[in-house]
Amino acid sequence: MKGIEMISIKSPREIEAMRRAGRLTAQARTLAGSMVRPGVTTHEIDQAVRRFIESHGGKPSFLGYAGYPGSACISVNEVVIHGIPGPRKLEEGDIVSVDVGALIGGFHGDCAATYPCGEISEEAKRLIQVTQQSFWEGIKNARFGCRVSDISHAVQQYVESNGYTVVRDFVGHGVGAKLHEPPEVPNFGPAGHGARLLPGMTIAVEPMVCAGDWRVKVLDDQWTTVSLDGSLTAHYENTILITEDGPEILTVTEDGAYV
Ligand code: MF3
Ligand code: CO
Repeated sequence: MKGIEMISIKSPREIEAMRRAGRLTAQARTLAGSMVRPGVTTHEIDQAVRRFIESHGGKPSFLGYAGYPGSACISVNEVVIHGIPGPRKLEEGDIVSVDVGALIGGFHGDCAATYPCGEISEEAKRLIQVTQQSFWEGIKNARFGCRVSDISHAVQQYVESNGYTVVRDFVGHGVGAKLHEPPEVPNFGPAGHGARLLPGMTIAVEPMVCAGDWRVKVLDDQWTTVSLDGSLTAHYENTILITEDGPEILTVTEDGAYV
């Protein structure tokens, strides 16, 4: 069967469960973001994320996934994704991407954001802003009847028109009972391709943006993914639901926070 035919449509009950998972995941992201300051280790943030998710009855989706050793991915500066938490102490001026997933009630939420550590450069601020905004530009096309690559194209257009580049080697994805489901949701490519979006589909849209060249490499630990040219990078991700009236962000806190 083609991937296009295997995109799951969530029932109203499953959508309720996805909202709950999304809320827990978003709360964990906000908690992690609030801990970003000089002197904190990435391990401390990871532990807090794990404790938070588990104390609310969930399981960190990433822990043990394909052998991944953390509950969060914490990716600093030129590390674009999959930074493994450890003894590294955050420093003033760093930009710190935190990616978290939580499984509760049989469904996953998946989200990420990039946070400033203390005072950061104007250029780093702009990179974070453009990366977040590219998500919102992309999901203007997350509507009934649009195709997956309409999202991809809008993300790429916005990022490149602001002088940055999008990572090609990693993509967004469907999310539900499994962390990664069809379809793939790239952040690049021409519009008008891929599956048609239908109400009840849930997808993770996740622009990964480089200030310089888009090429990346995976380090010897098999996870840490860095920009090849060492340029600054940022990441922003939410799990969304396609509805009759457009996208609904599932990874939002009770207070309505998206970072
Ligand atoms: N948000 C990332 C993704 O959707 C994080 C996966 S990390 C892993 O692919 F450890 F779970 F692989
Ligand atoms: Co994801």
